[in-house]
Amino acid sequence: MKKLTKVLAMTLAAAMSISMLAACGGGSTGGDTAADDGASTAASGEKLIMGTNAAFPPFEFVTTQGIVGEFDGIDVAIAKNIADSMGRELQIEDQEFDGLCAAVSTGKIDMAIAGMTATPERAQNVDFSIPYYVATQVMVVGADNTDITSAEDLKNDKKVGVVLGYTGDNIVTSELAVPEENITRANRGIDIVQDVKNGKLDAVVIDSATGKALAANNGLKVVEDPAAFESEEYAIAVQKGNTELLDQINTVLQGMIDSGEIDELAVKYSEAEE
Ligand code: ARG
Repeated sequence: MKKLTKVLAMTLAAAMSISMLAACGGGSTGGDTAADDGASTAASGEKLIMGTNAAFPPFEFVTTQGIVGEFDGIDVAIAKNIADSMGRELQIEDQEFDGLCAAVSTGKIDMAIAGMTATPERAQNVDFSIPYYVATQVMVVGADNTDITSAEDLKNDKKVGVVLGYTGDNIVTSELAVPEENITRANRGIDIVQDVKNGKLDAVVIDSATGKALAANNGLKVVEDPAAFESEEYAIAVQKGNTELLDQINTVLQGMIDSGEIDELAVKYSEAEE
C-alpha cells in the first residue's frame, strides 16, 4: 500500500517537473552544470537539489574531499543537515551565481544556498528563509597598501574589482558610484583578487568572510569600513510559494542557530579552509 502511494507520488512529481521544465522554454540560465539526468533525478523526489556557486570560501568551495563529493563549506554542511532531516540525498549543482535566482524560480533547483544576501530585489522572485549569517562588505587590498582606509577612498581614482551580480557590485556601482571606467567585474572572487596581487587593481570589494579567506590565501589584507558598508543577511532561497520546503529549512536553520552549530561551522571553516 505504502509502496503504491510512493510510486504514485513519484509519477506525479515527475509529471509536474516535466511541465515545469517545459515552462522554462528549455532556455538555460547559463553556466549551470545540471545535466539532463539531474533533472530526472529531481523528478524522482529522492534527491534534494542545492544550487550554489562554489567559489565562495568559507561558505562553498571545491576541495579534494568535501562533505558532498568535492564540495565543502558552511553552506554545504547546512544543506546536508536539511537533506538529512528530510531523509533525502543531497545533490549539488555548481553554477554561476547570477543565474541562481532564476534556477530557483523555474524549479531547476530546489534551493539556492550560496552565501546569498536576502535583498528586496531578489525577494521579488524567490522566497527567503530566516537569516543564518550576518556579513558586511570589506575591501581586499595589497599587504602594504596605506592609501585605502575607508570606502570613500575608493572613489579617489582607485581601480576597484567586484564580482558580477554580487551585492558588492551593486554597492560599488550604485551606492559609492565609483566611475564605471575604474570598475572591473569578474565571475569569481578567487580570480579577481589575483589582480590585486599583481597590482592591476587597488581593491576588491567582497563579503567579509570570503574577503578574509581570499586575503589570507593570497598574502593580501582586509580593510573594513562598517560605517560605509551596511550589514547583510544570508538566507536560503526557494521557489515562491514552496512553504513546505521553506518551513523545513527554517526548522533546521533555527535548530542550528540555537545549538550554536552555525557559529561552530563558521569558526571551523575559517580556520580550516585551504
Ligand atoms: N552575498 C553576496 C550576494 O548575495 C555574494 C554571494 C556570493 N555567493 C557565492 N556562492 N558565490 O550577492
